[in-house]
Amino acid sequence: MTGTASGLGRALVDRLHEDGWRVTGLDRSGATGDLTFDVDVTDVAAVDAAVASAAAELGSVDGVAACAGVFLSALTPVHALEHDAWTATIGVNLTGSFNVARATLPHLMQSKGAIVLVASTAADHAGPGGAAYAASKAGVRALTRSIALEYAMHGVRACSVSPGYMQTGMTAKMLEHDEIRANVVSRIPLGRVSDPAETADVMTFLLGPGASFLTGEDITVDGGGGLMAYTDRGENEGMWARHERRLQRQASV
Ligand SMILES: NC(=O)c1ccc[n+]([C@@H]2O[C@H](COP(=O)([O-])OP(=O)(O)OC[C@H]3O[C@@H](n4cnc5c(N)ncnc54)[C@H](O)[C@@H]3O)[C@@H](O)[C@H]2O)c1
Repeated sequence: MTGTASGLGRALVDRLHEDGWRVTGLDRSGATGDLTFDVDVTDVAAVDAAVASAAAELGSVDGVAACAGVFLSALTPVHALEHDAWTATIGVNLTGSFNVARATLPHLMQSKGAIVLVASTAADHAGPGGAAYAASKAGVRALTRSIALEYAMHGVRACSVSPGYMQTGMTAKMLEHDEIRANVVSRIPLGRVSDPAETADVMTFLLGPGASFLTGEDITVDGGGGLMAYTDRGENEGMWARHERRLQRQASV
């Protein structure tokens, strides 16, 4: 799996260990796992070589998870977006996921294993300045569905997950500002940013036997954030407060 130095990838290594998996971790540096490789996922030859070494060492590849991703802070409107920022974002998030899928699918055909790619709620919900990221993640979902369809013939399953805000290296700087955090949380029905372990749990399920008839699906892990298009936590809290007052009035007559 990729992106195991930090955040979601690191949490997934820990969670997979709980279920007895032996994990190969790839990251630019500082990868965690039982077998680790310093690899940039945009480097096709390096990804191919790491996957070949891991398969030789471990005997089989039973599951694949592609967590490596970037959100480059080029928060600009589309016409001002540097071409390099677009290319780098698509390169890591979409092409990097493709590189990993391409290198591992022949092994998954042998093991009849599963692959899980990491998309984002950004694929559904546009955010100002996030065009490259959103496009890369929508691409990840489309890639997942293509893999699911093609490789079902060989007993391989493919799913994606779409986390909302997780507390990781990617969001740490942004979420340390109280005002920004409060604004983010006001749009999450469950009232908090998630721990990456909560998405790692879902990915572990998708990789395991419990998901044996699930393929081509994207699972959103956003604390209900997608429900907030026409409301917010304040409005919901107001409704509950009115309900409580009504109950108290009824109890007092
Ligand atoms: N944090 C969030 O709120 C959030 C929300 C939705 C989706 N995601 C996605 O979750 C995944 C994990 O991100 P995270 O939040 O844990 O962030 P993170 O920054 O903590 O971890 C990302 C990891 O990917 C690695 N990586 C980046 N570019 C790489 C490359 N070219 N080659 C190899 N490794 C590379 C980094 O070194 C890092 O270890 C990403 O795909 C991200 O887009 C994150």
